[in-house]
Amino acid sequence: MLTHASENVGTIQPVFGSRYMVSPIPRFELPEEMMSKDAAYQIVHDELLLDGNPRLNLASFVCTWMEPECEKLILEALSKNFIDFDEYPATHDIQDRCVNMIARLFHAPLAQNEQAVGTSTVGSSEAIMLAGLAMKRKWQQKMRQAGKPYDKPNMVAGSNVQVCWEKFARYFEVELRQVNLRDGCYVMDPEEAVKLVDENTILVCAILGSTYTGEFEDVKLLNQLLLENNQKTGWDTPIHVDAASGGFIAPFLYPELEWDFRLPLVRSINVSGHKYGLVYAGVGWVIWRSKAELPEELIFHINYLGAIQPTFTLNFSRGRCSSCYNNLIG
Ligand SMILES: Cc1ncc(COP(=O)(O)O)c(C=O)c1O
Repeated sequence: MLTHASENVGTIQPVFGSRYMVSPIPRFELPEEMMSKDAAYQIVHDELLLDGNPRLNLASFVCTWMEPECEKLILEALSKNFIDFDEYPATHDIQDRCVNMIARLFHAPLAQNEQAVGTSTVGSSEAIMLAGLAMKRKWQQKMRQAGKPYDKPNMVAGSNVQVCWEKFARYFEVELRQVNLRDGCYVMDPEEAVKLVDENTILVCAILGSTYTGEFEDVKLLNQLLLENNQKTGWDTPIHVDAASGGFIAPFLYPELEWDFRLPLVRSINVSGHKYGLVYAGVGWVIWRSKAELPEELIFHINYLGAIQPTFTLNFSRGRCSSCYNNLIG
């Protein structure tokens, strides 16, 4: 049983029998009286026992075990204010190196010392918001330059898309055109997808690892059909690959499968670290094919904590955009 030392030297008072625990504490208000930190710890600790056991939870799409060395590193870095790039440059170098490793794993067309373009995010959901926003902005720029209307963007995906795409569509005012699934075909049919594309299509989303079945969509065929369509129409409809769960599987189990930046129309890819990347919930990545795919106007150059810091994230509390610094990796 947890115990704590009382103010009277020489006595030990068990928490469960202490005066801190004899009267109820308010659930929704700050208590009038103080309590010892070990009593407070015990109360919260015990309440959390009502949660499920993560190791027994095989249904939440996220890793529930990490190597002990990783846990050690997380604890060692917990007190760092991640956003302060100048104070914690090593943390950011490591992030940028991860972006570079993932971009190369996904065959981004990079020269040997060229910096990849991407950022860590809060899961694939934030990654998808950023990738969709970049594609929407690129499309708007193109339409504006051509003197055409740019107020009715749409995107195409199978109706098996994860709900975060519906969120993207609603928050960023993009019409979501869905390819219906049919008996025996539970992923997006690329031929049906191309039929829904028009000049206002900012992206077609292909899923590598459908949320419901794990099945990979045929990105290669979609790329081929869209190339033909683009050639015929003069449009430049790009592909975003939602590789939330497949991005850390396909390169290792199916290295010959062409689904990534080997295909010219694949302009951005998201992947969740916490699905098959062997890390706890909270990290995702978005990678762009090249700098040209990320409109400069979306990058914020903030003078936040003493130096100019370029970021492209939905919040200012974490992450930055690798390559925004324009430096080459050594
Ligand atoms: C295909 C797909 N995309 C996006 C997401 C959202 O990912 P995250 O939980 O990393 O935000 C999921 C999650 O299940 C998914 O399966």
